[in-house]
Amino acid sequence: MEFRKLSHALGAEVLGLDICKPISDSVFEEVQRAFLRYSVLLFREQHVTREQHIAFSRRFGELDDNDRSPDTDPQYPELTIVTTRPKPDGKPSESRYTGRLWHSDLCHSLTPAMGSLLRCLERPDVGGDTMFANMYMAYDTLSDGMKKLLEGLHGIHTRSRKFDTLSAERAAFLARQRPVAQPAVRVHPETGRKTLYLGEKVKQFAGLTPEESAPLLSFLNKHAVKPEFVYRHQWRKHDIVMWDNRCTMHLALGDFDMNQIRHMERTTIKGTPSGYLYEAA
Ligand code: SIN
Repeated sequence: MEFRKLSHALGAEVLGLDICKPISDSVFEEVQRAFLRYSVLLFREQHVTREQHIAFSRRFGELDDNDRSPDTDPQYPELTIVTTRPKPDGKPSESRYTGRLWHSDLCHSLTPAMGSLLRCLERPDVGGDTMFANMYMAYDTLSDGMKKLLEGLHGIHTRSRKFDTLSAERAAFLARQRPVAQPAVRVHPETGRKTLYLGEKVKQFAGLTPEESAPLLSFLNKHAVKPEFVYRHQWRKHDIVMWDNRCTMHLALGDFDMNQIRHMERTTIKGTPSGYLYEAA
């Protein structure tokens, strides 16, 4: 097995690993070390079944089950489907706009995701790319003054999916969810490094008004995704990309013809507890 860097900022392609075949503990540990080092791993030409995708993901930790949401396939609650394929009744897919803001998976929950593995089953002729940003770099390159200011701040993360037309059941479920305040700076539980932990879904810091928060959030979100901190992935069918949500953000660009099929399936590995339920004053 070998690793080939994908960009200066983050990411490496894993060469010589077929995730359908048995993987020894020592090889798996090498993958885990690479995951911590590069934050994004690309596995190309993985002709896997849903079961194999889930089984490989499960080796990294317990999987999220999407709260067994009505939008998931009851047979595979671990799979988040991101697709432009219309529903069987011909209506547009509710997940076609998923991920169109910079975010980290499950940031709105008290156990934000550790990792995610997104598999490309169908892709448009051109585009449909995903971008990743290195949030260690985003944090490390801030001034000492800004680092100090952020130390005590918590961003308020909400669950809303901005552009979707949700089923009534799903909308009611989401309406019951309380926002979660997450530290703006988190310490990665495995590397011990500090990372910026925000994203475009955060509209306010706890204890500040939205108006007071906006200029700071705007600066930080712009800073975090500077070209030198990002990797842009152009998907091929049978790619699996795995990312570390604790030190990266990602964005589905939506740079494609929405009449074409882009079909992705994601597993999400649970992380460690973080944040608190936010009650507006
Ligand atoms: C996601 O946010 O997990 C989806 C990303 C993508 O579809 O590119």
